[in-house]
Amino acid sequence: MALPNKPTWELLAEPDLSKVPVEEYEYDALLVGGGMACTGAAYEIGKWMPAGSKVCLCDKASLERSGAVAQGLSAINTYIGENSPSDYVRMVRNDLMGVVREDLIFDLGRHVDDSVHLFEEWGLPVWKKEGGNKAPLSEGGTPVRTGKWQIMIHGESYKRIVAEAAKAALEEMGYDLHERMFIVKLLLDANKDNTVAGAVGFSSRENKVCVYKAKAVLVACGGAVNIFRPRSTDEGKGRAWYPIWNAGSTYTMCMQVGAEMTMMENRFTPSRFKDGYGPVGAWFLLFKATVVNGAGESYVKSDAAKAELAKYTPYSEAAVTPTCLRNHLMLFEMKEGRGPIFMDTAAALGAFLDQKKADGMDEKALKKYWKELESEAWEDFLDMSVGQAGLWAAMNIEPEKVGSEIMPTEPYMLGSHSGCCGIWVSGPDEDWVPDDYKWGYNRMTTVNGLFTAGDGVGASGHKFSSGAHAEGRMAAKAMAKYVVDNADFSPALPQSAEELKAELYAPVVTYYKHYQETTHEMVNPNYIKPRHMMERLMKYTDEYGGGWSPYYMTNGHLLDIAMKHLQWLREDAEKMAASGLHELIRAWENLHRIWTVEDHLRHIQFREESRYPGFYYRGDFMQVDDKDFDGGGWKCFVNSQYDPKTGEWKCMKKKCHKIISD
Ligand code: ADX
Repeated sequence: MALPNKPTWELLAEPDLSKVPVEEYEYDALLVGGGMACTGAAYEIGKWMPAGSKVCLCDKASLERSGAVAQGLSAINTYIGENSPSDYVRMVRNDLMGVVREDLIFDLGRHVDDSVHLFEEWGLPVWKKEGGNKAPLSEGGTPVRTGKWQIMIHGESYKRIVAEAAKAALEEMGYDLHERMFIVKLLLDANKDNTVAGAVGFSSRENKVCVYKAKAVLVACGGAVNIFRPRSTDEGKGRAWYPIWNAGSTYTMCMQVGAEMTMMENRFTPSRFKDGYGPVGAWFLLFKATVVNGAGESYVKSDAAKAELAKYTPYSEAAVTPTCLRNHLMLFEMKEGRGPIFMDTAAALGAFLDQKKADGMDEKALKKYWKELESEAWEDFLDMSVGQAGLWAAMNIEPEKVGSEIMPTEPYMLGSHSGCCGIWVSGPDEDWVPDDYKWGYNRMTTVNGLFTAGDGVGASGHKFSSGAHAEGRMAAKAMAKYVVDNADFSPALPQSAEELKAELYAPVVTYYKHYQETTHEMVNPNYIKPRHMMERLMKYTDEYGGGWSPYYMTNGHLLDIAMKHLQWLREDAEKMAASGLHELIRAWENLHRIWTVEDHLRHIQFREESRYPGFYYRGDFMQVDDKDFDGGGWKCFVNSQYDPKTGEWKCMKKKCHKIISD
């Protein structure tokens, strides 16, 4: 019988690990993750692998509803269409304050539309412009563009559609799919230096550990959530903007085997509809809504706001103010005591109706038009953030009558939305790519055979769902080449399967050894439950690492304290206890979170400036120092590397090349 997902009191006093079977597998390529990037990889890889190859995809959940797009989306935010990939690079570069990998962004920009065309072919409904070409996008159809890069979709089932194609591709090739398989760590080869050889994980449905050998591994398990104290409390704590199951696994697993990381100081602090975390993009772009302060003033146009923005030229001068600076203005307004901030939904919807009236629309047509507008407003939430629709309903919100509060959330770490933390990877092997940006295989990390995509690839944000899928495909193609080039490589694991099982199940053993020692299983002198571990982590990151409670402010002294706490957390993590399989996942997720956060704060400590005002501030270095790498400034990457042999961490500056002209 599998361990229960809820604690029970009649369980074995001493867990007998001989009852936990270990399955051992050997593959050419292992895909770890099941979101947009890995479904892209699954779709693509079979086309390039040698005949008779063996591939497996491991998803900790069910492919149909996993990853950041699980709940659906109302827009695809990267569709190049009539624009150029160079322009896409310019937009991303400016939004991320100048420090990005232009080779990766350009490479993504030239491929991303192909994935969008596939989505439509697979059945994803893409909104078409009134009076425009209604054909599929691949045949010249005109999408409803909200911004220069974004298009609207009816996307509640987006992930299911994309997963179906991935599953079909795996099946067609005779490849394996292991769902409900949580990968805990990667394994380096026992003989070949700095080379990945496999991974190990456990099932969340039955007592089972799986040990995988593989010539090449793609890790794309999303970004990190629940690393900072959320604004929601207690029963609402699972409510977050990004999916709570993204626990930093991508970053930690790659970091632990020595992969070089980049821009881990970056984070995304999105401004969202307060408490429901509903998306704002459609309101700003589709409905042309504006934000106002408590007095109803459009504060972004004020002289004070202009003076604030002027501090951040040239970035603030772009047609679209960078995301972090938009936050900065909002925080400025709130700190000056002029909050709360509202999305003026009433004025936005009213303006549409007024325009139609002015155009001479009659009463009946106007009513019909209003119904459509209203349902579009609700669909935006229902497609991707049902909780926000629930909150509006619960609070009797009629968006045409009242505005709704907007608030910057807790910080998240990710590399695919408006953030850019992640892993340092090789760019495409082409002559226009600088030598220090490429080492043979596109999207391969600095560990041989280890690839990443989506949230995993650093310094290349604004890919969103479509870009993550396209990047998964690009990584898969390069992986196949690596497998072909290394056909003779026979991976050898450094630990036995039994040792690995004992390591993975240690929190279960700890629990059953001690749980009867206290009257309530949550509190015990011999262990800590994952829930409490997470609460401790969030308290430290929030108070010392610049969470929402100190308005995203930290400094060198606070970070020193944070580092001490993280050290102790890592020690205490060895005492985490899990009463069941779900809790065993929570325990390992926490360890992934702790490592990810440690790297994040190490980077913030190393970068002596505030590159992303509005996402975080270093109180002791408030400026953006745009002198470049050679001039001793900070217009450069910060990379870090953990050495798995010595257990030491180092941070370093790396040159940032400008490839695309202004
Ligand atoms: S979502 O994924 O939760 O929908 P979000 O609401 O931030 O994201 O935005 C979606 C898209 O709209 C992104 O491409 C983002 O850059 C863009 N966007 C959001 N707000 C604005 C704004 N005020 N001005 C310009 N672009 C914006």
